[in-house]
Amino acid sequence: MRIVIWLVRLILAVVVIVVVALGVVYALSARRINKTYDVQPASLSISTDETSVARGQHIATVRGCMDCHGAGAGGAIFMDAAPVFARISASNLTSGKGGIGSSYSDADWVRSIRHGIGPDQKSLLFMPSAEFAIMSEQDLADLIAYLKSLPAKDSDLPPNSVGPIARILTLAGQFPLLPAEEVDHKAAIPGGTPTGVSLEHGEYLAITCTGCHGTGLSGGPIPGSFASDPVPANLTPDPATGLGNWSETDFYKAMREGQTPEGKTLDPFMPWQSITSKMTDEELSSLWLYLQSLPAQPKGGR
Ligand code: HEC
Ligand code: HEC
Repeated sequence: MRIVIWLVRLILAVVVIVVVALGVVYALSARRINKTYDVQPASLSISTDETSVARGQHIATVRGCMDCHGAGAGGAIFMDAAPVFARISASNLTSGKGGIGSSYSDADWVRSIRHGIGPDQKSLLFMPSAEFAIMSEQDLADLIAYLKSLPAKDSDLPPNSVGPIARILTLAGQFPLLPAEEVDHKAAIPGGTPTGVSLEHGEYLAITCTGCHGTGLSGGPIPGSFASDPVPANLTPDPATGLGNWSETDFYKAMREGQTPEGKTLDPFMPWQSITSKMTDEELSSLWLYLQSLPAQPKGGR
């Protein structure tokens, strides 16, 4: 009998500790999720001529906007693991029902894409704005011109919800839930757009690879990902685990056809079909130059 009473007490104590701990996690994370940012972006001159819109379409492709926002940017569920992890949708960017296009001002577009802040002044959830903050004035203007030209699409997306595990990982710095925290809102807007085949151009494009391959591009599991998710490869010139033994031709074949020199077909999670196969020769050669210039690192240093 005594042991039963003791066990009940122990279980109650554990329950109380878990509830208190979750309360703390919710309070701390809610403070960050609800934090408001007062950022008034400098105005941008957006030309809506055919050439600018076509350039904008290519930028949306190589920056992977539609990979998350769905075909025609009509919105898509991005992560669907509620209630324990999170359910987050990438917004419908058109002017259709459920879309943001009709109510967005030019300043709203810039604030969301470059700063990761929504019209309610709070951080967007998971939108990788830190990757887009480096975009030149011209690229951002043409991208917005293209988004505004998109035909209206209707959507009916479920509301976002952020569960305990996503909150704990966010507090531990292991999950990029709040892009507004990662962007330097006072940074000068990058001026010129790199062109031609150059290291600088490669670095400019490679920011889009860092979300999965890590800031040092050495790959390894994405923090917060599931064990069953494909693991991003090491893109540094390490001969054992990276691209040290690849030629530029091998790189082109992987980026355009999804085939590696080892005879592997790349997992579709690696966006070779949607992003890299649509890159121009100049863009791929620049990326190759840049990747080859990185310090070789073993896989997984991220
Ligand atoms: C990794 C996935 C991902 C990629 C890539 C991505 N987005 Fe997003 N984006 C999101 C998510 C998720 C949200 C919704 C955030 C929210 O509801 O708080 C979002 C929100 C937005 C918003 C704000 C919409 C609103 O609801 O107010 C804009 C604008 C936007 N994205 C534009 C872009 C553009 C332009 C690109 C490409 C340059 C892009 N996104 C690439 C995931 C992504
Ligand atoms: C959405 C996540 C994601 C993004 C963004 C991404 N990759 Fe990958 N990449 C992966 C994954 C996962 C693999 C491993 C695929 C496999 O094992 O089949 C991979 C594999 C590769 C490989 C094959 C390497 C090898 O040794 O087999 C190359 C090359 C590559 N990526 C280059 C890039 C470049 C360049 C970019 C940016 C333009 C990029 N990736 C963006 C997820 C991504």
